[in-house]
Amino acid sequence: MKKKLIPAFASVLLLCACGTEVKESALMKYEDRITEIMSKMTLEEKVAMLHGKHMFSSEGVPAQGIADIEYADGPFGIREEMEPHSWNSAHLDTDSATFFPTGSALAATWSADLAREYGKGMAIEARLRGKDMILGPAINIQRVPVGGRTYEYFSEDPLLSSVLATEYTLGVQENGAAVCLKHYALNNQEDHRGYVDVQVSERAMREIYLPPFEMSVRKGDAWGVMAAYNKVRGYWCSENKELLTDILRDEWGFKGIVISDWGGTHSVRAAEAGLNVEMPGSSFLGQALLDSLKAGVVSEEAVDQRVRELLRVRLAVEPIPAEKANVQMTSQPPQQKIAYDVAAHSVVLLKNEGLLPLDLGKHRKIAVIGHNAVQTQGLGGVGAGVKALYEVTPLEGIMAKIGDKAEVKYAQGYARYTGMDRHRRVNPICEPDKELMEEAVALAAESDLVIFVAGNNRDIETEGSDRKSIMLPMGQDELVKALAAVNPNIVTVVVTGAPADLRVVKEVSPSVVVSWFNGTEGGNALADILVGNIAPSGKLPFTFPMQLEDNPAYALGVFPQVVERSNEDVFVNLVNRRRDRRRIKLEADYAEDIFVGYRWYEHKDVPVLYPFGHGLSYVDFDYSSLSLKSTSKGVKVSLDLTNTGKMEADEVVQVYASRPESALTRPEKELVGFKRVSVKPGESVNVVIDIDRDTFRHWDDATDGWAVETGAAEFHVGSSSDDIRLTGQSQIK
Ligand code: BGC
Repeated sequence: MKKKLIPAFASVLLLCACGTEVKESALMKYEDRITEIMSKMTLEEKVAMLHGKHMFSSEGVPAQGIADIEYADGPFGIREEMEPHSWNSAHLDTDSATFFPTGSALAATWSADLAREYGKGMAIEARLRGKDMILGPAINIQRVPVGGRTYEYFSEDPLLSSVLATEYTLGVQENGAAVCLKHYALNNQEDHRGYVDVQVSERAMREIYLPPFEMSVRKGDAWGVMAAYNKVRGYWCSENKELLTDILRDEWGFKGIVISDWGGTHSVRAAEAGLNVEMPGSSFLGQALLDSLKAGVVSEEAVDQRVRELLRVRLAVEPIPAEKANVQMTSQPPQQKIAYDVAAHSVVLLKNEGLLPLDLGKHRKIAVIGHNAVQTQGLGGVGAGVKALYEVTPLEGIMAKIGDKAEVKYAQGYARYTGMDRHRRVNPICEPDKELMEEAVALAAESDLVIFVAGNNRDIETEGSDRKSIMLPMGQDELVKALAAVNPNIVTVVVTGAPADLRVVKEVSPSVVVSWFNGTEGGNALADILVGNIAPSGKLPFTFPMQLEDNPAYALGVFPQVVERSNEDVFVNLVNRRRDRRRIKLEADYAEDIFVGYRWYEHKDVPVLYPFGHGLSYVDFDYSSLSLKSTSKGVKVSLDLTNTGKMEADEVVQVYASRPESALTRPEKELVGFKRVSVKPGESVNVVIDIDRDTFRHWDDATDGWAVETGAAEFHVGSSSDDIRLTGQSQIK
């Protein structure tokens, strides 16, 4: 978008106390009791609370019968039980959990209700395991498509991320556990995450990166936050007073606890800056803190405050006695049903030239090709995974639904990426495996239709390192071209948690779906969509660019970064004979500012392969009768939506706003509201979306605060950011 220059009088800036009408945190009920408990505590007892006791617990107040806090790794399933002081499995036979679809899959549902259910499911399983706080949701903005944890995170858009994060939070906390929002803040890459120093403008930080955290605190009353590994503007997140105290506590009213990411604490200063618990060890907030307190380097008042916050959470979450935990199997049918529902609403139909839903009368011999058809995704790579009670793979799902109606045969097609070369930082693109390819081509040639199950696995998309490319790995592009040469009837299923370069797939496959890392029930949900038992209704939570180089951080040359070490670091390395990573100086320049994701592509007129919000159905929807009503509270958007197809289907109605008369530099348009709606065939429904006035806020550098620009706004309502069906004008009052 080219910014239009408008005389300054065209709009008025109104300062707002955005989001402040929020009721007091439920954590504030216990203050008197806490005062009493603390009056009986020694300094040693207080400090004992401020660091890990075991890998996933921190100490209570044993002398007063106050239980430890038990943490459960999330965010997409309760991690298996480990030995107290290692990452080794405890080998329990009751800790197999439900593998919920990962973050980007949940985000593709664009469903506040499903996010709430998801949180509930996670909480129920955490409680069966005796856990108090779930280390999730993971809610960083997907800045670069290669980001190793893109699959855990929700969206490139702050509103979509905020709504889902808030609902996940409410779902967890209504069901007896606490959340721990992670990773606060600006942990948008995995390479160099332990020391990279994010340089970001205040406006981009406030408008793009912080809202999911802010909304989960303000509207969801989140009780826990995890400080990220990286630095923000010179300070590690775990000791960043601006983030942990000024913004989180003083501005947003957070009353809970901040724990460090594992090994992400760097000094005793953290306690004063706002960190409650060093996890998992006690290098800084143990004896060193005690010594610092006694030497008067750290104030006792700060430690008292941290202990108070810990006790609030401890008293708000009912402890579960050890003998009542892990008695029953973690994964249970009601949670498995939630995992199915999320998966079934997340699958995105990118393209459909007639092959879907499958016509089994016409296509009797079906070839399922690709290792991802049999690959489970609960575990893999580095970091938290789920020891799933079961996981239905795409092939199992397809066999269960149509194995008795068609002749289904499988060929592996490409080699499995195992992650062996991940640390050599090479791309897992690789040449195709000739033998596997020949076998697959032969099967495709004798079949009526090919379901090509492509994409990544959890060894490619992983915590701890970013991908180096978004090309499909293991020679999949070559393979699909070879398949298409012998059989043009190809449905490609892309198993991925992040954007992929699908130019080749799009060219040779008449139909393409994205089925994510879709959890325990992923294969069943996928098969139900392929055969047409349900209509696809997922929408992309991020843009699929044409190519990686189009991404703003790449286009501006600020990602990936090059590591340079100062002389001092070299000295330290020589002396210590090891790489002291903490001393590496590396800045991440967020030069694209607020133009993240679709905001950039639209602003710069860069064509994309599949736009933000895109997702087709087996029916068409007709949009009509848009009306916009503006009040001092916000804007009410109303429209009629008609399902003109032959089956019941869901649509996600998306509302974007642009401010043609703005005095600010702004994106072409921004998501301001959305709603998932179910519509029966032939039925028309009235859809009302209330957009709160705060949604229109922007960060005003002049006053260093939020403001709302009053005046004209254009509303664009449609089925994706690039498929706008209705447009109207209204005023922001
Ligand atoms: C991850 C966190 C995780 C923690 C405990 C860290 O490496 O960044 O997300 O919760 O480990 O497993």
